[in-house]
Amino acid sequence: MADADTLDDQARAILRGNDRGGYTVPTAGLYPYQWNWDSMFAAWGFSTFDVDRAWTEIETLFSAQWDTGMVPHIVFHKVDPGYFPGPDYWGAGRTPPSSGISQPPVAATLARRIFEADPEAGRARLGGLYPKLKGWHRWWRDCRCPTGVAVVTHPWESGRDNCPDWDVGMARVDGSNVGPYTRRDTGHVDPSMRPLKEDYDRYLAILQFGRACGYDQKEILARGPFLMADPAITFILLRAHRDLAWIGRELGEDTAEIEAWATDLEAALPYIWNDALQSYDARDVRTGTFANTLGSGAFLAWYCGLDRPAMEARLKAVWDGVRYGIPSSDPAAPSFDPRRYWRGPTWPVVNALIAMGFADAGRSADAERLRRETVALIEGAGFWEYYDPLDGTPCGGPDFTWTAAIWLAWASPNARGN
Ligand code: DGY
Repeated sequence: MADADTLDDQARAILRGNDRGGYTVPTAGLYPYQWNWDSMFAAWGFSTFDVDRAWTEIETLFSAQWDTGMVPHIVFHKVDPGYFPGPDYWGAGRTPPSSGISQPPVAATLARRIFEADPEAGRARLGGLYPKLKGWHRWWRDCRCPTGVAVVTHPWESGRDNCPDWDVGMARVDGSNVGPYTRRDTGHVDPSMRPLKEDYDRYLAILQFGRACGYDQKEILARGPFLMADPAITFILLRAHRDLAWIGRELGEDTAEIEAWATDLEAALPYIWNDALQSYDARDVRTGTFANTLGSGAFLAWYCGLDRPAMEARLKAVWDGVRYGIPSSDPAAPSFDPRRYWRGPTWPVVNALIAMGFADAGRSADAERLRRETVALIEGAGFWEYYDPLDGTPCGGPDFTWTAAIWLAWASPNARGN
């Protein structure tokens, strides 16, 4: 078992090794481009030893921002045939080429953390990013909060692609006419750890709808094949609005508009409270149907300051049902699959966010337990994408950027506690 200093060295080497010059790939092979939220975690990790490189990572990501304000979920800086679907399939017609959907808006929250750790190095860089961040948050407000809470128009937009939260919405997507395609992910990783073909058929059907309408957001919201309210993104966005307002005040800006976005979002939360489940829950916006799932998404409630005693008991059973970290879905549910991507595995990066929420809520014992369990996974197997929460088996891609990053910024015994 490696000691903390050795693991710190390995984590820094992973970030450097996955650096492609101004941006970082999540892992070589499986994900050869710049991913939105992966990059923000990369920046957080870099900030522990190279703050200039941290700000550059964020600036490169925002250089791909659309004129609508959207920051895409993948930026295809250099074409790589080892990934599908690539820039031509997305057909978004942007420079630099990108996908046509977004990803969880952790940027303002992590930019604030990076800035607070070294305000002198960050002030001018943050000032340059602020209008871009605000433009992205306005896009979330206008294009992803049509009825109040945040919705996703594609499971990939949630970042938690195949979690059971989306099953009710995905069941209504017709994936039978997507035409021939060749997946690349299953050539890099054991297919039993990846989404199923029937998931990919539907992912591509939803993508094709967006591509056919030129990523017209009005059309996607009105008639897109998939539209689900996402508690995790809602919680992440709520915190991000507040952090962006904090950043704005720090820069001497008028932040009333951003504060109003946060107030409106908070007021909409009852829509995703599932009384029967006694938890926040994903919900199909087209039908009103709840997903009836418990998992890591709901655990992010604390991350935006929510504390519901009824939910606490439900979620404690989920956590206590596994040995390592918060599982991406309920181990007692029939859909639980401990090694298949978001259908059960624990993700160190999500654990880091959940622990941030625990710490801010004064739940230091929970924050420490989650850190300890995450450390055990990384000490035992190294820096993988995700892990089996029952026995700690490493899963997905190796030498993973965001796992290395959260090690440096949070999990390592040497982390400065930022
Ligand atoms: C993938 O390719 O698996 C990604 O999660 C899509 O963003």
